[in-house]
Amino acid sequence: MKVDLKGKTAVITGASRGIGREIALTLAKNGANVAVCARNEELLKTLVNEAEGFGVEAFYHVVDVRKREQQEEFFELIKERFGRIDICIPNAGRAALAKPGEITQEDWELDIDTNLTGLFISSQLALNIMKPQKEESYIFPIISKAATKSFLLRPSYCASKAGALAFTRSLSLEAKESGITVTSILPASVATDFQKGNPAGMDWMLLPSDVADTVLWLLSLSSRAAVDEIVIQNRGR
Ligand SMILES: NC(=O)c1ccc[n+]([C@@H]2O[C@H](COP(=O)([O-])OP(=O)(O)OC[C@H]3O[C@@H](n4cnc5c(N)ncnc54)[C@H](OP(=O)(O)O)[C@@H]3O)[C@@H](O)[C@H]2O)c1
Repeated sequence: MKVDLKGKTAVITGASRGIGREIALTLAKNGANVAVCARNEELLKTLVNEAEGFGVEAFYHVVDVRKREQQEEFFELIKERFGRIDICIPNAGRAALAKPGEITQEDWELDIDTNLTGLFISSQLALNIMKPQKEESYIFPIISKAATKSFLLRPSYCASKAGALAFTRSLSLEAKESGITVTSILPASVATDFQKGNPAGMDWMLLPSDVADTVLWLLSLSSRAAVDEIVIQNRGR
Protein backbone atom coordinates (compact mmCIF):
# COMPACT_ATOMS: atom_id res chain seq x y z
CA MET A 1 0.00 0.00 0.00
CA LYS A 2 1.20 3.54 -0.82
CA VAL A 3 -0.15 6.68 0.84
CA ASP A 4 1.02 10.15 -0.17
CA LEU A 5 2.43 11.69 3.01
CA LYS A 6 4.66 14.24 1.26
CA GLY A 7 5.03 17.38 3.35
CA LYS A 8 3.50 15.76 6.46
CA THR A 9 5.35 15.59 9.76
CA ALA A 10 5.27 12.38 11.79
CA VAL A 11 6.54 12.00 15.35
CA ILE A 12 7.36 8.56 16.73
CA THR A 13 8.50 7.88 20.30
CA GLY A 14 10.45 4.75 21.20
CA ALA A 15 11.70 4.53 17.62
CA SER A 16 15.21 3.17 18.18
CA ARG A 17 14.05 -0.45 17.78
CA GLY A 18 11.13 -2.72 17.02
CA ILE A 19 7.66 -1.41 16.17
CA GLY A 20 8.52 2.30 16.46
CA ARG A 21 11.49 1.97 14.12
CA GLU A 22 9.40 0.12 11.52
CA ILE A 23 6.60 2.71 11.68
CA ALA A 24 9.11 5.57 11.27
CA LEU A 25 10.66 3.96 8.18
CA THR A 26 7.27 3.12 6.67
CA LEU A 27 6.05 6.70 7.07
CA ALA A 28 9.32 8.05 5.65
CA LYS A 29 9.06 5.67 2.70
CA ASN A 30 5.63 7.17 1.99
CA GLY A 31 7.02 10.71 2.00
CA ALA A 32 6.57 11.95 5.60
CA ASN A 33 9.28 13.91 7.38
CA VAL A 34 9.98 12.11 10.64
CA ALA A 35 11.03 13.17 14.13
CA VAL A 36 12.04 10.25 16.31
CA CYS A 37 13.10 9.81 19.91
CA ALA A 38 14.27 7.17 22.37
CA ARG A 39 17.28 6.85 24.71
CA ASN A 40 19.77 4.98 22.48
CA GLU A 41 21.48 7.67 20.39
CA GLU A 42 23.48 5.30 18.16
CA LEU A 43 20.35 3.44 17.04
CA LEU A 44 18.50 6.73 16.46
CA LYS A 45 21.35 8.03 14.26
CA THR A 46 21.21 4.91 12.09
CA LEU A 47 17.44 5.23 11.80
CA VAL A 48 17.64 8.87 10.73
CA ASN A 49 20.21 7.99 8.04
CA GLU A 50 17.93 5.26 6.73
CA ALA A 51 14.88 7.54 6.74
CA GLU A 52 16.80 10.28 4.88
CA GLY A 53 17.54 7.66 2.23
CA PHE A 54 13.87 7.96 1.23
CA GLY A 55 14.41 11.64 0.39
CA VAL A 56 12.62 13.05 3.43
CA GLU A 57 13.83 15.18 6.32
CA ALA A 58 14.46 13.33 9.55
CA PHE A 59 15.86 14.18 12.94
CA TYR A 60 16.24 12.52 16.31
CA HIS A 61 16.38 13.71 19.88
CA VAL A 62 17.48 11.65 22.85
CA VAL A 63 14.50 11.52 25.18
CA ASP A 64 13.46 9.50 28.18
CA VAL A 65 9.68 9.70 27.79
CA ARG A 66 9.23 9.56 31.57
CA LYS A 67 10.73 13.05 31.82
CA ARG A 68 8.29 15.80 30.89
CA GLU A 69 11.01 18.42 30.29
CA GLN A 70 12.81 16.15 27.81
CA GLN A 71 9.62 15.54 25.85
CA GLU A 72 8.82 19.27 25.89
CA GLU A 73 12.27 20.02 24.47
CA PHE A 74 11.71 17.41 21.71
CA PHE A 75 8.32 18.85 20.72
CA GLU A 76 9.75 22.41 20.73
CA LEU A 77 12.50 21.25 18.34
CA ILE A 78 9.89 19.66 16.09
CA LYS A 79 7.95 22.96 15.94
CA GLU A 80 11.15 24.85 15.10
CA ARG A 81 12.21 22.37 12.45
CA PHE A 82 8.90 21.46 10.77
CA GLY A 83 6.41 24.01 12.14
CA ARG A 84 3.69 21.40 12.51
CA ILE A 85 2.76 17.84 13.48
CA ASP A 86 0.35 15.79 11.36
CA ILE A 87 0.86 12.32 12.82
CA CYS A 88 1.98 11.35 16.32
CA ILE A 89 2.70 7.77 17.39
CA PRO A 90 3.29 7.51 21.14
CA ASN A 91 4.95 4.09 21.15
CA ALA A 92 7.75 3.91 23.75
CA GLY A 93 7.18 1.02 26.10
CA ARG A 94 8.67 -1.60 28.38
CA ALA A 95 7.47 -4.47 30.53
CA ALA A 96 8.53 -5.94 33.85
CA LEU A 97 8.26 -9.71 34.22
CA ALA A 98 7.04 -10.72 37.69
CA LYS A 99 3.94 -12.02 39.45
CA PRO A 100 1.67 -9.48 41.20
CA GLY A 101 2.82 -10.74 44.60
CA GLU A 102 6.49 -10.37 43.72
CA ILE A 103 6.88 -7.32 41.49
CA THR A 104 9.06 -4.62 43.01
CA GLN A 105 7.86 -1.06 43.51
CA GLU A 106 10.69 0.06 41.19
CA ASP A 107 9.56 -2.15 38.30
CA TRP A 108 5.94 -1.14 38.87
CA GLU A 109 6.84 2.55 38.61
CA LEU A 110 9.05 2.03 35.55
CA ASP A 111 6.14 0.45 33.64
CA ILE A 112 3.58 3.03 34.75
CA ASP A 113 5.90 6.00 34.16
CA THR A 114 6.95 4.82 30.68
CA ASN A 115 3.79 3.26 29.26
CA LEU A 116 1.14 5.46 30.86
CA THR A 117 2.69 8.77 31.92
CA GLY A 118 5.10 8.85 28.96
CA LEU A 119 2.22 8.22 26.52
CA PHE A 120 0.10 10.86 28.27
CA ILE A 121 2.85 13.50 27.92
CA SER A 122 3.51 12.77 24.20
CA SER A 123 -0.20 12.73 23.38
CA GLN A 124 -0.88 15.98 25.27
CA LEU A 125 2.01 17.84 23.66
CA ALA A 126 0.98 16.61 20.19
CA LEU A 127 -2.68 17.53 20.76
CA ASN A 128 -1.81 21.08 21.76
CA ILE A 129 0.34 21.59 18.68
CA MET A 130 -2.26 20.02 16.36
CA LYS A 131 -5.32 21.88 17.68
CA PRO A 132 -4.52 25.37 16.31
CA GLN A 133 -3.44 23.86 12.95
CA LYS A 134 -7.14 23.19 12.26
CA GLU A 135 -6.32 20.41 9.82
CA GLU A 136 -6.86 16.67 9.72
CA SER A 137 -4.25 15.10 11.94
CA TYR A 138 -3.76 11.82 13.75
CA ILE A 139 -2.64 10.43 17.10
CA PHE A 140 -2.18 6.64 17.11
CA PRO A 141 -0.96 5.42 20.50
CA ILE A 142 0.55 1.93 20.36
CA ILE A 143 -1.11 0.32 23.35
CA SER A 144 -1.46 -3.50 23.55
CA LYS A 145 -3.99 -6.28 23.76
CA ALA A 146 -2.77 -6.42 27.37
CA ALA A 147 -4.96 -3.35 27.96
CA THR A 148 -7.98 -5.67 27.95
CA LYS A 149 -6.49 -9.09 28.83
CA SER A 150 -4.36 -9.64 31.91
CA PHE A 151 -1.30 -11.89 32.12
CA LEU A 152 0.07 -13.48 35.30
CA LEU A 153 3.62 -12.20 34.78
CA ARG A 154 2.78 -8.71 33.49
CA PRO A 155 0.75 -6.99 36.23
CA SER A 156 2.27 -3.52 35.92
CA TYR A 157 2.37 -3.73 32.12
CA CYS A 158 -1.32 -4.68 31.91
CA ALA A 159 -2.24 -1.94 34.40
CA SER A 160 -0.25 0.67 32.48
CA LYS A 161 -1.79 -0.33 29.14
CA ALA A 162 -5.35 -0.40 30.56
CA GLY A 163 -4.69 3.11 31.86
CA ALA A 164 -3.28 4.17 28.50
CA LEU A 165 -6.40 2.92 26.74
CA ALA A 166 -8.69 4.74 29.18
CA PHE A 167 -6.69 7.96 28.80
CA THR A 168 -6.68 7.66 25.01
CA ARG A 169 -10.48 7.31 24.96
CA SER A 170 -10.73 10.62 26.86
CA LEU A 171 -8.17 12.23 24.57
CA SER A 172 -10.23 11.21 21.56
CA LEU A 173 -13.28 13.09 22.87
CA GLU A 174 -11.34 16.36 23.03
CA ALA A 175 -9.35 15.78 19.84
CA LYS A 176 -12.30 15.09 17.56
CA GLU A 177 -13.64 18.62 18.17
CA SER A 178 -10.55 19.88 16.32
CA GLY A 179 -10.53 17.36 13.47
CA ILE A 180 -7.89 15.20 15.11
CA THR A 181 -8.42 11.45 14.82
CA VAL A 182 -7.23 9.35 17.73
CA THR A 183 -6.98 5.60 17.21
CA SER A 184 -5.78 3.22 19.91
CA ILE A 185 -3.76 0.40 18.34
CA LEU A 186 -3.77 -2.82 20.37
CA PRO A 187 -1.39 -5.39 18.90
CA ALA A 188 -1.17 -8.93 20.26
CA SER A 189 2.35 -10.45 20.35
CA VAL A 190 4.90 -8.91 17.98
CA ALA A 191 8.35 -10.39 17.31
CA THR A 192 10.70 -7.72 18.70
CA ASP A 193 13.34 -7.54 21.45
CA PHE A 194 10.40 -7.08 23.79
CA GLN A 195 9.47 -10.77 23.29
CA LYS A 196 13.02 -12.16 23.48
CA GLY A 197 13.10 -15.19 25.76
CA ASN A 198 9.37 -15.90 25.33
CA PRO A 199 9.18 -19.66 26.06
CA ALA A 200 6.67 -20.07 23.17
CA GLY A 201 9.22 -18.74 20.64
CA MET A 202 8.51 -15.92 18.19
CA ASP A 203 7.77 -17.68 14.85
CA TRP A 204 4.01 -17.35 15.24
CA MET A 205 4.05 -13.67 16.21
CA LEU A 206 3.14 -10.59 14.21
CA LEU A 207 6.03 -8.66 12.68
CA PRO A 208 6.61 -4.93 13.32
CA SER A 209 5.63 -4.43 9.65
CA ASP A 210 2.12 -5.71 10.46
CA VAL A 211 1.70 -2.82 12.90
CA ALA A 212 3.29 -0.32 10.50
CA ASP A 213 0.95 -1.51 7.70
CA THR A 214 -2.01 -0.93 10.03
CA VAL A 215 -0.84 2.64 10.66
CA LEU A 216 -0.54 3.21 6.92
CA TRP A 217 -4.00 1.74 6.30
CA LEU A 218 -5.50 4.08 8.93
CA LEU A 219 -3.88 7.00 7.12
CA SER A 220 -5.34 5.82 3.80
CA LEU A 221 -8.96 6.10 5.01
CA SER A 222 -11.20 8.86 3.68
CA SER A 223 -11.83 11.95 5.80
CA ARG A 224 -15.31 10.56 6.52
CA ALA A 225 -13.90 7.65 8.52
CA ALA A 226 -12.41 7.56 12.02
CA VAL A 227 -11.46 4.30 13.73
CA ASP A 228 -11.53 4.47 17.55
CA GLU A 229 -9.67 1.26 18.39
CA ILE A 230 -8.06 -1.54 16.47
CA VAL A 231 -6.95 -4.91 17.86
CA ILE A 232 -4.39 -6.78 15.76
CA GLN A 233 -4.61 -10.45 16.73
CA ASN A 234 -2.17 -13.28 16.19
CA ARG A 235 -4.16 -15.21 13.62
CA GLY A 236 -5.61 -18.43 14.99
CA ARG A 237 -4.77 -17.66 18.65
N1 LIG B 1 6.26 -6.67 21.05
C1 LIG B 1 5.03 -6.95 21.46
O1 LIG B 1 4.62 -8.11 21.61
C2 LIG B 1 4.05 -5.83 21.71
C3 LIG B 1 2.68 -6.13 21.69
C4 LIG B 1 1.77 -5.10 21.93
C5 LIG B 1 2.20 -3.83 22.17
N2 LIG B 1 3.54 -3.57 22.18
C6 LIG B 1 3.94 -2.19 22.47
O2 LIG B 1 4.60 -1.66 21.36
C7 LIG B 1 5.51 -0.65 21.78
C8 LIG B 1 6.88 -0.92 21.16
O3 LIG B 1 7.33 -2.19 21.63
P1 LIG B 1 8.38 -3.09 20.83
O4 LIG B 1 7.80 -4.44 20.75
O5 LIG B 1 8.84 -2.42 19.60
O6 LIG B 1 9.54 -3.16 21.93
P2 LIG B 1 11.12 -2.91 21.84
O7 LIG B 1 11.68 -3.53 20.61
O8 LIG B 1 11.63 -3.34 23.17
O9 LIG B 1 11.23 -1.33 21.68
C9 LIG B 1 10.83 -0.47 22.71
C10 LIG B 1 11.14 0.93 22.30
O10 LIG B 1 10.73 1.83 23.35
C11 LIG B 1 11.83 2.66 23.70
N3 LIG B 1 11.77 3.04 25.11
C12 LIG B 1 11.63 2.24 26.20
N4 LIG B 1 11.64 2.97 27.33
C13 LIG B 1 11.80 4.27 26.94
C14 LIG B 1 11.91 5.49 27.64
N5 LIG B 1 11.84 5.54 28.98
N6 LIG B 1 12.07 6.62 26.94
C15 LIG B 1 12.13 6.59 25.57
N7 LIG B 1 12.04 5.47 24.86
C16 LIG B 1 11.88 4.32 25.53
C17 LIG B 1 13.07 1.83 23.37
O11 LIG B 1 14.18 2.68 23.09
P3 LIG B 1 15.43 2.98 24.05
O12 LIG B 1 15.70 1.72 24.81
O13 LIG B 1 16.49 3.36 23.08
O14 LIG B 1 14.98 4.12 24.91
C18 LIG B 1 12.64 1.14 22.09
O15 LIG B 1 12.84 1.97 20.98
C19 LIG B 1 5.50 -0.69 23.30
O16 LIG B 1 4.66 0.32 23.82
C20 LIG B 1 4.93 -2.05 23.61
O17 LIG B 1 4.29 -2.08 24.86
C21 LIG B 1 4.47 -4.52 21.96
